[in-house]
Amino acid sequence: MVNGPSLPGSAGLDHVVPIRAETDVLLARQRARHLASELRFTGGELTLIATVISEVARNIVTYAGTGEIVLRLVQGGQRRGLLVIARDKGPGIADVERAMQDGYSTSRGLGLGLPGSKRLMDEFEIVSEVGKGTSITMTKWERSR
Ligand SMILES: Nc1ncnc2c1ncn2[C@@H]1O[C@H](COP(=O)(O)OP(=O)(O)OP(=O)(O)O)[C@@H](O)[C@H]1O
Ligand SMILES: [Mg+2]
Repeated sequence: MVNGPSLPGSAGLDHVVPIRAETDVLLARQRARHLASELRFTGGELTLIATVISEVARNIVTYAGTGEIVLRLVQGGQRRGLLVIARDKGPGIADVERAMQDGYSTSRGLGLGLPGSKRLMDEFEIVSEVGKGTSITMTKWERSR
């Protein structure tokens, strides 16, 4: 699904990938990789972007059930970037600071999804409210010319 019109500072339309099941995780991953391949990213960077998308999309399936991934190409000076929003109206996270620490998991996971995503992206913001949901906004900038 493609939404418009785009916001100021953005270089394109929003690509919205609904997340309802594990197959959607793969779809979001592929869409992000495809969009990002239009920018000056290395193969390694494309892989890490895809990895980050997998982590936040899988969190949506595991903890919230459903949600969506929004992908948007953005412009920052001479560089472009990929903005990723992962949002859901699930249970929210009671202690975000704790959830951002390596090894914290309520599902016997490795607890590396969120902190790892923060490390791999250039910008990372998480807003979560118990009973309301979670929204993670991240940007990865392409290399300068
Ligand atoms: N969308 C979400 N909604 C509610 N809680 C979440 C959400 N995403 C993450 N969490 C909470 O934050 C914790 C840490 O998430 P993180 O992705 O870092 O680790 P994990 O999913 O437990 O393990 P993994 O390393 O397999 O990703 C989760 O265990 C869960 O409690
Ligand atoms: Mg996770």
